[in-house]
Amino acid sequence: MSLAHRRILLGVSGGIAAYKSCELVRRLRDLGAEVRVVMTGSATHFVGAATFQALSGQPVRTSLWDEQAEAAMGHIELARWAERILIAPATADVIARLAQGHADDLITTLCLASAAPLYLAPAMNQQMWAHPAVQANLATLRRHGATVLGPAAGEQACGDVGSGRMLEPLELRDALVASFGHGELAGLKVVVSAGPTFEDIDPVRFIGNRSSGKMGFAVAAAAAAAGAQVTLVAGPVSLATPQGVMQRIDVRSAAQMQVAVLEACAQADIYVGAAAVGDYRPVCVAGQKLKKQAGADLVLQLAENPDILASLSAQSKRPFLVGFAAETHDVANYARGKLERKGLDMIAANQVGEGLGFETADNALTLYWHGGEAELPRTDKATLARQLVTHVAERYKVARA
Ligand code: C5P
Repeated sequence: MSLAHRRILLGVSGGIAAYKSCELVRRLRDLGAEVRVVMTGSATHFVGAATFQALSGQPVRTSLWDEQAEAAMGHIELARWAERILIAPATADVIARLAQGHADDLITTLCLASAAPLYLAPAMNQQMWAHPAVQANLATLRRHGATVLGPAAGEQACGDVGSGRMLEPLELRDALVASFGHGELAGLKVVVSAGPTFEDIDPVRFIGNRSSGKMGFAVAAAAAAAGAQVTLVAGPVSLATPQGVMQRIDVRSAAQMQVAVLEACAQADIYVGAAAVGDYRPVCVAGQKLKKQAGADLVLQLAENPDILASLSAQSKRPFLVGFAAETHDVANYARGKLERKGLDMIAANQVGEGLGFETADNALTLYWHGGEAELPRTDKATLARQLVTHVAERYKVARA
């Protein structure tokens, strides 16, 4: 069991169960997690910030208005940093504020500003727990994607007996371990590029291509579901970031995409280049809108764009490289050629122009690698992406063995 390098944000709200959260920090760190603690003002009446600071080895934040802390790791950075947010204990009050989408303190603001999955460990008196207002708020939060852990039943600090005891630290720790899954890509850093690139001609015109970004976004979603820490570098598309994707970098041109991909890949184990990168860009980008010259042709001179995959494969320390090849004919030959020429570990080829590929919901792929291939028949892009991820995980393990 490991949480090595996993980044967990622990929100502590004001309940007596906060004393158990001290133990929780220790148990998370035993498994290698990085833990940062944020407390509500009420929580500090139960446990001192210094206790969590010592246990987590990190500064503890108790307010949105701490200038020094904001200058170090601001709340938006903290929201992005977190891979999981666990609120333990979660009081009836914090549950109500989260359900309403309030951002009136640091914890609620972080929860709104973060893409990380939210876990709640409620702790309250059994009468409060049974109140329909609390249950309705939890139902809302579940609908928004939060996971409610517990509570357990038994003797309570106030003397009552019933439901509302916070789960034990080891139970909460195990829930977090399970949340990262034992997926095929657990613990690996994966970078995915997706969508088209746009190369500007002038302030209103560009050269682009018909990529919708759907396949790349599906690959990013599948890799995250398989336990990877995913960075998605997206060209100009209007798609929502898939759940579980840790970081999204939006770019426009091939040159911008190259910068973002190379930077992200410095730490990555696997790169999947699903973007349809433009091969050429105008040599000159006009500062003002080009005027039509009646009766005359317009000649645009184009310069070759850098090949992102090839530039990665030229590096001595490089991730496992997966390319895509969209071809209109002779797919196998062109795909194998690209596998060799670009120095890839795997290529996913599809035939475009027969109602498949661009802008469609379905696709079909053939995967090629050195010494093998696999046919992934026509299906929706989400299913196809999961199958692709399974093959990538297998080949990655072989390559690293
Ligand atoms: O050569 P072609 O564009 O067909 O190759 C497609 C593959 O190469 C895709 O994985 C694409 O993301 C990648 N590519 C790239 N940089 C380019 C052009 C394509 O990484 N400039």
